[in-house]
Amino acid sequence: MSDTDSTTEQRARTPVLSCSNLHRYLGEGEGRVHVLRGVSLEIEPRRAYAVEGPSGCGKSTLLYSLGLLDRPDAGEVRLGGVELSRASDDERSRVRASALGFVFQFHFLLPEFSALENLMLPMYRKGGLNESRMRDRATYLLDRVGLADKADRLASRLSGGEQQRVAVARALANAPSVVLADEPTGNLDGANAERVANLLVELARESDHAVIMVTHNPDIAARCDVRLTLSEGGLAVAPVVG
Ligand SMILES: Nc1ncnc2c1ncn2[C@@H]1O[C@H](COP(=O)(O)OP(=O)(O)OP(=O)(O)O)[C@@H](O)[C@H]1O
Ligand SMILES: [Mg+2]
Repeated sequence: MSDTDSTTEQRARTPVLSCSNLHRYLGEGEGRVHVLRGVSLEIEPRRAYAVEGPSGCGKSTLLYSLGLLDRPDAGEVRLGGVELSRASDDERSRVRASALGFVFQFHFLLPEFSALENLMLPMYRKGGLNESRMRDRATYLLDRVGLADKADRLASRLSGGEQQRVAVARALANAPSVVLADEPTGNLDGANAERVANLLVELARESDHAVIMVTHNPDIAARCDVRLTLSEGGLAVAPVVG
């Protein structure tokens, strides 16, 4: 193996996102639930992770902690080696906007903006690119999700499957280190679900980011590199064979 190969290999194996001993309680008084009970996890770049488990077991709660959308009650979340569970709200928002991408079950596109404009919005928010570079990147990403010909179409005039593909492209707008997807195919029919899930997995493998995808669909989970099963707040990890 050459030095370059071993450096690339090394980088690929260094976790980009990790959590250790995460605990999260939700609800008040009698209704208080210990949702996450010491979850530890390491996420490597260029890999797709499925998070599975029964309804109510804490999948979304885990994703929100990892995505800096919610603070754990105990434990650490590290992104690029930096501990962020106790960072300020401003710091967490800044990191979230620049290093993380999100896809939810509902696309949350702005209906009165075009597909291209929906992709450019997070780039405006982050800053750093001029208008023409933003437009070029948005055009490239729409092409990657098979929607180059619909760049100027209003989001409200796209089909459900197309809207979710725009949401996938939007999650990549700022070249994040990790894309977090909470049931990204939950609202789609079989063919569209497969297409969106394949895109999420392929884009991670060919880019430099990782994707963590919560799913109830075992066929989709089987396409990921690692399957994580959450049950009663703890994690079991099963690498996908074959
Ligand atoms: N605000 C809240 N107050 C009290 N309990 C909550 C709150 N939000 C979530 N919970 C509880 O926390 C647990 C975990 O919820 P979470 O949404 O993470 O589950 P999930 O695995 O994503 O489920 P699903 O597959 O249905 O989306 C559930 O038992 C839920 O009822
Ligand atoms: Mg959920």
